Amino acid sequence: METKNIVTEYLRCTEGELSPQEQELVKAARKACDSAYAPYSRYQVGAAALLDDGRILTGSNQESPVFPSGLCAERVLLYQIKAACPDREILAVALAAKSAGKLVKNEVRPCGACAQVFADAAARQQRPLRLILSGTQGCTVLENAGALLPFAFEM
Ligand code: THU
Repeated sequence: METKNIVTEYLRCTEGELSPQEQELVKAARKACDSAYAPYSRYQVGAAALLDDGRILTGSNQESPVFPSGLCAERVLLYQIKAACPDREILAVALAAKSAGKLVKNEVRPCGACAQVFADAAARQQRPLRLILSGTQGCTVLENAGALLPFAFEM
């Protein structure tokens, strides 16, 4: 028998310490919050992805009166990318959130289902998928979004 450990390394930084391109991605994620349809939770999440061809694509959470039918911003974004441009790689994703119309203080973190989908997307590409979680009090950066869920389901 052997005890094993999983260590998750991440970076805590201010927004100003991000690269200019990453700052632009955070800005795009913040803007994407405004396209959320979240009349039930009043919690708007924005996600922005930088693709390997330089494009920035965005997604936001979309709620439904049939509650389980809504979808998180991350999955709206990742599935949209995989459906529209399956051959592109995702260099980085930034997340932002607004609660009752104001950007949240503590960075938004993907839910478990989105962590699985990030792990799936990261495993499908050669390059690491960098993840930037933003709040008004700073950012958390994961070199590879796959680290969100070390025991991700695999078939
Ligand atoms: N939400 C996201 O968009 N991403 C997450 O990772 C967690 C939660 C959305 C779902 C719902 O519309 C609202 O935030 C409140 O849970």
